[in-house]
Amino acid sequence: MAAVPDIRKRCIIWLGRPGHHERDVVAAAGWELRVVEDAGGARIGLRGGDLVAALVDLRDADPAWLVTMRELLSRHPDLPLVALTGHRHAGAPAPENCLLELQEPLALEQIQRLQRIVEGDQVPSPGTHGDCLIGASPALLQVRASLNKFAPVELPVLVTGETGTGKELAARALHDLSPRRHGPFVAINCGALPPNLVQAELFGHERGAFTGASGRRIGLFESADGGTVFLDEVGDLPLDAQTNLLRVLQEGTLERIGSRQSIRVDVRVVAATHVDLEDAVAQGRFRQDLFYRLDVLRLHMPPLRDRGDDVELLARHFLAQFREQHRVRARGFDATARRQLHGHRWPGNVRELLNRVRRAAVVCESELIDAASLQLQDATVGESDGLGRLRVHAEREAILTTLRDTGFNVSECARRLRVSRVTVYRLCKKHQLELEALRT
Ligand SMILES: Nc1ncnc2c1ncn2[C@@H]1O[C@H](COP(=O)(O)OP(=O)(O)OP(=O)(O)O)[C@@H](O)[C@H]1O
Ligand SMILES: [Mg+2]
Repeated sequence: MAAVPDIRKRCIIWLGRPGHHERDVVAAAGWELRVVEDAGGARIGLRGGDLVAALVDLRDADPAWLVTMRELLSRHPDLPLVALTGHRHAGAPAPENCLLELQEPLALEQIQRLQRIVEGDQVPSPGTHGDCLIGASPALLQVRASLNKFAPVELPVLVTGETGTGKELAARALHDLSPRRHGPFVAINCGALPPNLVQAELFGHERGAFTGASGRRIGLFESADGGTVFLDEVGDLPLDAQTNLLRVLQEGTLERIGSRQSIRVDVRVVAATHVDLEDAVAQGRFRQDLFYRLDVLRLHMPPLRDRGDDVELLARHFLAQFREQHRVRARGFDATARRQLHGHRWPGNVRELLNRVRRAAVVCESELIDAASLQLQDATVGESDGLGRLRVHAEREAILTTLRDTGFNVSECARRLRVSRVTVYRLCKKHQLELEALRT
């Protein structure tokens, strides 16, 4: 799997004071950081072609940074603006024109989300008031109808579907269409968190609640007050956290770790899973009562192979999106490419299509992308079992080699392979690669 070469630099102009950990997170996500501490400001030059976002750090609510921000935006009106707020009720409110509100502490996931938004992968949630799912197939129309039906109802939604089918995008659309759209949308990947940190991350903790808890921390549920919490890969939630989640759903309250005080939270929970939760219940890995609480409204994202002509529609959309930001010759697909788009089984679904189109746009020398640039020849329908086995073997090799090359850093491996971290974890499981064992 060749990665699309990184053509542009990514840079965050941070108006405020990032912490050490935040500097590390930004660097780990592959972004350059330019800190403007001196509010009132040095002139900030931007190199054309780079991906740049301005982040205004509102935790200290220093009004001088807001002035610098306005000045910066008046010179660069198209600069995407992001606000880093602490707890929703503390600090200054996020400015109206900000694309995304990130909550403290800044995590890798949030920067990746920022990247998706800045790269135009996903239409940002605030202000879109609608869904950004491309497609007109009967299967997608059904999804859209469910979204419209479910959005105004204050009940949990369980989003199911194979990898890359748009589960997260659908959850965001649900939020954008709901009366909570002006509240926060907080997404968390339950599978990507170390089990011992899950509780603290979700429900927060008091100072001194455990070794290393040097201050009080507000959990994601509290920071999503008035909005939606998206629990991605909910099947990976450890059992003790499942118990607390059940309480939030049943009673609308939580306790921070180290506190007995009940805190009322007003959140709507949308959960997603790619595993069969009924199976997980049968095996005792998932609480049955929690399953019934989450699975009130079910939204199934159909695989791309069941969406007919949407494949071509999506391919054109992704190419057009890519062309807006990159100078590439490709402006369409030739007949061979179109045939292959329709013939492929798309095991990685929409995400696979997106990455193949981007790669093809970069490598293709002519105006029309051909079959060869899509690299689908070895993966069309009707492949023999032998070929299938070969691909499984190649997949295992690809993941193992990349893991080794990155010192078993899952985020970096995901970045290089252009898949999500969840996919890396899933592939490790599928190919019986024990990360912990491999690391030692
Ligand atoms: N219908 C669609 N229209 C436009 N873009 C889409 C659509 N569906 C998915 N995408 C894009 O495909 C990519 C994968 O979508 P998303 O992350 O929502 O999938 P997922 O089901 O959550 O994947 P995973 O199971 O790996 O977590 C994203 O870049 C998303 O923006
Ligand atoms: Mg997802």
